[in-house]
Amino acid sequence: MTEAFDPASLSQSWPKPSKPRPIVTFGAGSIVGDAHFPAYRKGGFPISGLYDPDQAKAQKLAETWGVTAFRSVEEAAAVKDAIFDLATPPGRHADVLKALPDGAVGEATEILEICRAKRLKAAVNFQLRFAPMMLALKDAVAKGWLGEVVDFDALLALDTPWQLWEFLLKAPRVEIAMHSIHYLDLIRQLLGDPLGVHAKTLGHPNHKVAQTRTSAILDYGDTVRCALSINHDHKFGRRHQACEFRICGTEGAAYVKLGLNLDYPRGEPDILEIH
Ligand SMILES: NC(=O)c1ccc[n+]([C@@H]2O[C@H](COP(=O)([O-])OP(=O)(O)OC[C@H]3O[C@@H](n4cnc5c(N)ncnc54)[C@H](O)[C@@H]3O)[C@@H](O)[C@H]2O)c1
Repeated sequence: MTEAFDPASLSQSWPKPSKPRPIVTFGAGSIVGDAHFPAYRKGGFPISGLYDPDQAKAQKLAETWGVTAFRSVEEAAAVKDAIFDLATPPGRHADVLKALPDGAVGEATEILEICRAKRLKAAVNFQLRFAPMMLALKDAVAKGWLGEVVDFDALLALDTPWQLWEFLLKAPRVEIAMHSIHYLDLIRQLLGDPLGVHAKTLGHPNHKVAQTRTSAILDYGDTVRCALSINHDHKFGRRHQACEFRICGTEGAAYVKLGLNLDYPRGEPDILEIH
């Protein structure tokens, strides 16, 4: 049964852990200073410290946040009962994982094998599905406000500053593996696994990043239409740029604007509207 339409009643948060554990971060790059540490602080999670082979960078970030800059991987890995937070370039994850203690908590297969062998409880940071507005969207769908969801459209036309990530400039798989993977994860949370996927991902003649544009159709059978149209090479002014989802049901619809991507990493406000 559909509940009364009251947007303020939508859930926008995730339950907190009953016993928060100290967080030890590997990497002192932009994602840690711009996203991980601000979010941990805001959420009240204890940050123990961080390690980065670039000691000056680690020290600077540690001072800003009043946490420890560990001098070695071993020192960081020795923190008891920690949550290890890997914010390193993908090619470095395996080495960091190998240095972690057994049972404490390359490539995807190698990472999985190390986690299994060490009995690590590992999570990949697919944070979009936990974003407050996505939790609210999920709640609105669960409350039946949209009726049966029959349409999911993602439209991106923006100018993503790939040059911020040096390691991406040489990576063989970029757009889907580093960016749209968050949309695919969110869509799977809302609609489940598709029956199939038709997709093409490609680069752009103006630069050397392996792929920055993707078209994808996710096959959810004969009732649900799901499409992603993604172009990170729209450098032609803010007016016609977009980073938005339209989710339509049989009874209602939602519109989502992902403000962060439109001016990364400063961002514009997000928008969730429900009809
Ligand atoms: N989930 C998301 O939305 C999202 C967004 C941005 C970045 N990322 C991911 O986060 C990771 C880091 O991205 P970033 O933007 O901070 O990159 P960055 O290039 O700004 O920083 C990476 C840092 O890792 C350090 N590093 C390299 N090897 C290390 C090691 N063995 N131990 C500890 N530190 C090491 C480097 O010195 C550098 O300071 C990447 O895997 C990236 O794909 C995810």
